[in-house]
Amino acid sequence: MSRRILILIGHPDPSPDRLCRALASAYAEAAESAGHAVRKIDLASLDIPFLRTMQEFEHGSIPDSLREAADAVVWAEHLVFVFPLWLGTVPAMLKAFLEQVMRPGTAFAYPEQGEGFAKSLLRGRSARLIVTMGMPAAVYRIWFLSHGIAGMRRGILNFVGIRPVRETLLGMVANASDVKRASWLEQMQRLGARAV
Ligand SMILES: Cc1cc2nc3c(=O)[nH]c(=O)nc-3n(C[C@H](O)[C@H](O)[C@H](O)COP(=O)(O)O)c2cc1C
Repeated sequence: MSRRILILIGHPDPSPDRLCRALASAYAEAAESAGHAVRKIDLASLDIPFLRTMQEFEHGSIPDSLREAADAVVWAEHLVFVFPLWLGTVPAMLKAFLEQVMRPGTAFAYPEQGEGFAKSLLRGRSARLIVTMGMPAAVYRIWFLSHGIAGMRRGILNFVGIRPVRETLLGMVANASDVKRASWLEQMQRLGARAV
């Protein structure tokens, strides 16, 4: 079954040489070849202003520079985030994007009087987080309990209704051999072809 896939590249460095971009392209090409509808947005190419106030969050509107990306989030059935681990968590640029887009009216609705919980507006979507890092992935999982990734999964994506959120953690990327890099790209192709 064909799926609508949005790939969001969350690497602040716009250099085409970043591993994250190669991973995103491998995923996208395989997904397209398998017949899925794919959109790819590179957040480094967008102007992402910081959201600064509760007033703006609740009553403001998504900045024009992010309107198309926000529409793509709503359009997608499956969201793929590709980003490097920075200081144990998602780079500030990606967090700034999520603060702008995952706002009331687009991603969730505050509870009506008498209702207990916020209403998730992005139900029916799944996601995958593809995260590169300098340390071994097992160290991040076991010692750091994947805290930054867990925060994004539970505190943001699950909150707005996106589940399941699957994770692919790629560790020790700095000195990876060509063979290792090729195996990661093949892994991306397999995931992309299955749209998971
Ligand atoms: C500001 C900054 C913070 C970083 N913090 C971490 C970290 O907390 N843990 C880690 O394992 N690697 C960390 N790294 C290494 C990056 O995760 C690594 O360079 C990146 O995943 C490589 O992917 P790329 O080729 O797509 O840039 C950091 C790198 C930078 C520039």
